[in-house]
Amino acid sequence: MVRVLDQDRELIARDVSQWLARHEAKQMLRFITCGSVDDGKSTLIGRLLYDCRQVFDDQLEALESDSKNVGTQSGKLDFALLVDGLSAEREQGITIDVAYRFFSSEKRKFIVADTPGHEQYTRNMITGASTADVAVLLVDARKGVLTQTRRHSFLAQLVGIRHVLVAVTKMDLVDFDQDAFDSILAEYGAFADKIGIRDWTAIPLSGVNGDNVTTRSENTPWYDGPTLLGYLDTVEIDASANAAKPLRMPVQWVNRPNLSFRGFAGQIAAGSVGPGTEVRILPSGRTTRVARVVTATGDLDQAFAGESVTLTLEDEVDCSRGDVIAAAGDPPEASDQFEATIVWMNEEELLPGRGYWLKLGTQTVTAMVHEPKYEINVNTLDHLAAKTLALNAIGVAEISTDRELVFDPYLPEGGASTNRVLGGFILIDKVTNATVAAGMLHFALRRAGNIHRQHLDVSRETHAAMKGQRPAVLWFTGLSGSGKSTIANLVEKKLAGRGRHTFLLDGDNLRHGLNRDLGFTEADRIENIRRVGEVAKLMADAGLIVMTAFISPFREERRMVRGMLPEGEFIEVFVDTPLEEAERRDVKGLYAKARAGDLKNFTGIDSPYEVPENAEIRVDTTQMSAEEAADLIVERLLNRRD
Ligand code: ADX
Repeated sequence: MVRVLDQDRELIARDVSQWLARHEAKQMLRFITCGSVDDGKSTLIGRLLYDCRQVFDDQLEALESDSKNVGTQSGKLDFALLVDGLSAEREQGITIDVAYRFFSSEKRKFIVADTPGHEQYTRNMITGASTADVAVLLVDARKGVLTQTRRHSFLAQLVGIRHVLVAVTKMDLVDFDQDAFDSILAEYGAFADKIGIRDWTAIPLSGVNGDNVTTRSENTPWYDGPTLLGYLDTVEIDASANAAKPLRMPVQWVNRPNLSFRGFAGQIAAGSVGPGTEVRILPSGRTTRVARVVTATGDLDQAFAGESVTLTLEDEVDCSRGDVIAAAGDPPEASDQFEATIVWMNEEELLPGRGYWLKLGTQTVTAMVHEPKYEINVNTLDHLAAKTLALNAIGVAEISTDRELVFDPYLPEGGASTNRVLGGFILIDKVTNATVAAGMLHFALRRAGNIHRQHLDVSRETHAAMKGQRPAVLWFTGLSGSGKSTIANLVEKKLAGRGRHTFLLDGDNLRHGLNRDLGFTEADRIENIRRVGEVAKLMADAGLIVMTAFISPFREERRMVRGMLPEGEFIEVFVDTPLEEAERRDVKGLYAKARAGDLKNFTGIDSPYEVPENAEIRVDTTQMSAEEAADLIVERLLNRRD
């Protein structure tokens, strides 16, 4: 049972459906709280919930007994215990994940995303912030503005939160000193100005005593602004601002229960829509009109940003998951190259050149992040040179995707057209499935927009036919000294002997020319393979049978090159020589050097080799000679059927 205000209790007793209807009709405000360790956040939010009478009876009993047992307020109610819900967290004395809480006032319903303050929890903050209208930043009156406060402000602004409330807590511990409050005000104001936060307010508070939480405090006669609840009750809500923007609805799924109904379901990200609205489907660009706006409780005349609906269209147009239904006259852009701000949230640093899943709205593509242009120091906002981004780093980099993305530019300062649903994205590691970064697309790079593929009259089929062969890329992979070059060389000789048109790309050789700027860090190896992949592809387009001999230690890049070629043309050849054997042979003396510590990042020693999982051909060099291996490969190549 919820503890409710007395007048509510009365209404519930008299007419519960009226009470529910009134509750239903209240506007919803989402906010996020961010703070540092021990700044009184849980106490403040707990106090807010308690004063709004939104504490469940069973929670209240638990609170009373917990306050006696583990509370930090010597037996008085410890409001932090209401918020620090999980026992594991209580033992550590910190809050760990994003916790969502629901409560309401007379005027509004609230969803609060509570995120912890440790540096490594940027991810939680981004998660909680992505839909929030307001960020409540906790500042301990005794400590003032900290790096954390700046970081949180920066992130809040980055993800598009338009209102910031600086909640200056623990005012009781500085005797409600106006100077302490004013100096925080001044310091924060200067920073907010610098990063362009326009709408912010500060309130002097004490969670423990409830000063200025829901009622005005007598301890702060010098303060004449709103209480915390007063602010939350009246601050502008994003959904209303979003409804005025041009229509955007990313299609979540196509609802096709029978042949006569085909509807496109999704949440309206911006704008409004009704029967007759002219829409454009992206990326195809087709235009049509909306026929019906269907919901579970019947058709609507008009639906607005924030609502989930199913649209039916007047014409039979192609439209599927990931497409965007947009205002016909003001559609979003589509591109495959962007500049973006990226917040890195993973223990393992960004690997420029590596393919990550990029999710934006309902679209998922493969994306490659280039070497960052710079990293941002959140304290000074200086730009620092950076080759990568480590945990919690914020930087700006270019991104290329393997397909066009439908997007709206998202810049914190960007004004009315910016849209976080179609401008904010996350990156996911393809192997571990972990979310490794969040980001915002600034704009499409002009070079992407202005470079169109040129149609070539002599096709790759013609090139192949002129050479009388089917092109292929025989991709040799294996440890250094495994025998890749030797076997590839023999294969080429045998093929040439049979009149085939071939070319061999060899690691050591290319590293003297095309790739001479690259070393052996993970990032450089990824770039090495990307370039070799592109060259091999061009040669296959020219009709050649290409052999490549590179360690190519990572599955992801081998898979990437496979994806660049037509089905069946990429043939992975795993030259399987165990490390002990390669090291015993040590043809170039490099293993000895690596063991002695004179050569860093050596594959198999202090740099990984990811064994192929489904290579088309595997040759075990401990079981067969190079000649035998080459014969086997030639045979398999010439007899391939798929
Ligand atoms: S890859 O990892 O990027 O595919 P690649 O095949 O081009 O490597 O180059 C590997 C060759 O470079 C090895 O056969 C060896 O001769 C030489 N080499 C020099 N330093 C290293 C190193 N740290 N790790 C591996 N190979 C190295």
